[in-house]
Amino acid sequence: MTHILYTIEELKKQRATHNGPVVLVPTMGALHEGHLSLVRLAQQIPAATVIVSIFVNPLQFAEGEDLDAYPRTLEADVDKLTAVGADYVFAPSPRDMYPQGPRTTIHPGPAGTVLEGASRPTHFAGVLTVVHKLFALTNCTHAIFGEKDYQQLLLIKQMVADLNLNVNIIAAPIVREKSGLAQSSRNQYLSAQQTQLATTLWRALAAGQQQHTKETILHSAHAILETEPDIKLDYLALRHNDLVSEPTAGENRLLVAATVGKTRLIDNVAVTLN
Ligand code: PAF
Repeated sequence: MTHILYTIEELKKQRATHNGPVVLVPTMGALHEGHLSLVRLAQQIPAATVIVSIFVNPLQFAEGEDLDAYPRTLEADVDKLTAVGADYVFAPSPRDMYPQGPRTTIHPGPAGTVLEGASRPTHFAGVLTVVHKLFALTNCTHAIFGEKDYQQLLLIKQMVADLNLNVNIIAAPIVREKSGLAQSSRNQYLSAQQTQLATTLWRALAAGQQQHTKETILHSAHAILETEPDIKLDYLALRHNDLVSEPTAGENRLLVAATVGKTRLIDNVAVTLN
């Protein structure tokens, strides 16, 4: 049975009883197979104690975004985590996490101002602040993040390097539906028809992945996106893996963000340039 910790106090008490590796899987809940794959990866670390945090972090949502609508399904999440054998769920309240409201925050630097950062200017400061707090509170030795949020993963690795944090960051591959749609808690907002439409993002990325020059990668991906006028494209971008430099020969990233109905979705793949 997964043990639920509702407060920082309870977390600290339990944390003090563990000496070996402690692996944190940070989430906002509404867990799906993608999250459970992160837990399974965590369990592969020998003698690991696995803590899954479930916290819908108000700091990373801007005015008018889906903070209130974000699915909160703690009971079902705990059942899923019990089934996979996670040791702890840490599910604090916003008041426990931010007793003073938002005050000290972490600035993400240049890689936080492009792509998602250009569309959601306060988002990554909110993400890095809560992730830093979760690292400090759990005193974790390792933390696992999915590659679906590629820019988030990159910025967290940068934060760990730049602020000399003692946490090993492990990247986990994207988990996709049979249709290719990347699993995301926000997929719950989609109707059956929108879910079908949303697979266009994956089809566009997959078409780009078949190509090996900058022009042909972008052209093939755009060609697929243009077949669906109901998809509102925010960006389709081919970037160096560091997201701020121009792409170079070898592995780069093709990233997409688009709105389907009212739901904003993101996805990305590795592409190889000749
Ligand atoms: O990826 C997410 O679910 C969130 O951004 C994270 C890392 C749990 C921080 O709130």
